[in-house]
Amino acid sequence: MGKGSVLALAREGCELFVSARGEIRLKNACEQIARETGARITPIVADHSTDAGREKILSACPEPDILVGTCAPPPTTGDYRKITPDDWKQTLDISLLSPVQFMQATIDGMVKRKWGRIVNIGTGAAKFPAQIRILSGAPRAALVNYCVAVSKIVAKDNVIINNILPGMHHTATIRERYDALARQNGTTYEEEVDKFVQAWRIPAGRFGDPDDVGAFVAMFCSEFANFTTGQSLVIDGGITNGTF
Ligand SMILES: NC(=O)c1ccc[n+]([C@@H]2O[C@H](COP(=O)([O-])OP(=O)(O)OC[C@H]3O[C@@H](n4cnc5c(N)ncnc54)[C@H](OP(=O)(O)O)[C@@H]3O)[C@@H](O)[C@H]2O)c1
Repeated sequence: MGKGSVLALAREGCELFVSARGEIRLKNACEQIARETGARITPIVADHSTDAGREKILSACPEPDILVGTCAPPPTTGDYRKITPDDWKQTLDISLLSPVQFMQATIDGMVKRKWGRIVNIGTGAAKFPAQIRILSGAPRAALVNYCVAVSKIVAKDNVIINNILPGMHHTATIRERYDALARQNGTTYEEEVDKFVQAWRIPAGRFGDPDDVGAFVAMFCSEFANFTTGQSLVIDGGITNGTF
């Protein structure tokens, strides 16, 4: 979803600074998108869940106009009684404290320039809790709460903060997880995905693509979002839709 977001923002003409821990995949992705769009993209190899990683990222791009946060999905959870304090600490560092630290470091500059856009890619489980998503949903519910509180403070300065809450999408992590399941069950990736689609009754009848998320990241980062802040958009093919 990070890559889908980079592609969508590159198509809109943004200059981008993109971080990940794995150098080869990061550089390949940045080069591919730069070739396709002509955008200037700087890859930064860093772990954004650590102070050192955040410093490296922020020193490469100290005054961004746009901040988009994502991470690898936290592990799925089985028996809630088996979640350890270390599991909590790790997921809180990556999926709550990291985006909070980035926001704290960049919002003042956005306020001064009277223009800023922040989008955090969380999870649908922040809004619709599920047993398998306890480590994923709870920290992002807290992140959304924080974002809404801060969005009210900086809205008058044209700093706009929104969240995207995805359902199931074909991304690198999902590919690895469902390939592993397929190997275990003697099936294929497509069959395992289809089992999930049936079990969770996804109305769209499929998983989403990263570009389905990227398009809305770009919209929330644009002038279209001038008067839309503190919102959380669920993109899940209709699984959790109610009337409002
Ligand atoms: N895919 C889904 O179906 C799904 C469903 C619900 C919610 N979500 C949410 O959507 C977001 C993105 O998920 P995804 O499926 O796109 O994940 P993904 O395929 O694992 O991609 C995550 C990206 O972030 C980088 N990354 C992860 N941890 C990092 C760290 N500590 N420091 C720097 N870079 C890091 C990874 O690169 P490196 O590994 O090289 O660092 C990778 O490029 C997550 O918040 C996830 O919980 C996804």
